[in-house]
Amino acid sequence: MGAPFLITIATMALHSSLAVASDPSPSQDFCVAINDPNTAVFVNGKICKYPKVVNADDFFFQGLNKPGNATNQQGSNVTTTNVNNLAGLNTLGVSLARLDFVPYGLNPPHTHPRATEVLFVLESTLHVGFVTSNPPNNMKNQLFTKTLNPGEIFLPFPLRLIHFQFNVGKMNAVAFAGFSSQNPQVNTIANAVFESNPPIFLDILTKALLFDNKVID
Ligand SMILES: *[C@@H]1O[C@H](CO)[C@@H](O)[C@H](O)[C@H]1NC(C)=O
Ligand SMILES: *[C@@H]1O[C@H](CO)[C@@H](O)[C@H](O)[C@H]1NC(C)=O
Repeated sequence: MGAPFLITIATMALHSSLAVASDPSPSQDFCVAINDPNTAVFVNGKICKYPKVVNADDFFFQGLNKPGNATNQQGSNVTTTNVNNLAGLNTLGVSLARLDFVPYGLNPPHTHPRATEVLFVLESTLHVGFVTSNPPNNMKNQLFTKTLNPGEIFLPFPLRLIHFQFNVGKMNAVAFAGFSSQNPQVNTIANAVFESNPPIFLDILTKALLFDNKVID
């Protein structure tokens, strides 16, 4: 024991505090997920399948060539891969989604509680943007936007910030999003605020959003 030992501890502490920004790095080549409710083993992710019985299908997903059905109220549909439908993603800290939009379809303002996102447009034209969290000194939250054509990407929609994508083209849009998590999750702002169960008291929403009750209703 002594200085080297203390430095090791300090380094470990530093590493673990940095690791909270995204999924932790895996400590093995892979850790294919297994659903076993009878085991009492808990890890950050799912427990691993025995390596000798892992096969190529554990790392394989098909179907992202097919559009999701975007004929709905928002005019968008997200087809996700994550650790629940692609077990090999477990502990690897990445995943991919396909986004489909009808003309003027919107992927409404939302956050991903666990991931930064990078967006690639394949077809049509998407107006995309994200908003910073509250800055100091009563400055306004800053909006960053870009209008993307096929072949263009918008660099990370940063971790947990509110963002959106809107198809401003006259044709169906297709885009792909990469995530820095095996399971980025989605938190849609309007659903959380206006459609919770039970609903948030009207007076709270009115005061928070400076609308009158009728608008909120
Ligand atoms: C998205 O598309 C899938 C596949 O077509 C469909 O099953 C699902 O209901 C759609 N989701 C929404 C929100 O429209
Ligand atoms: C897409 O969803 C809409 C609304 O639910 C439905 O009417 C339509 O048949 C679906 N289209 C396909 C191709 O499944």
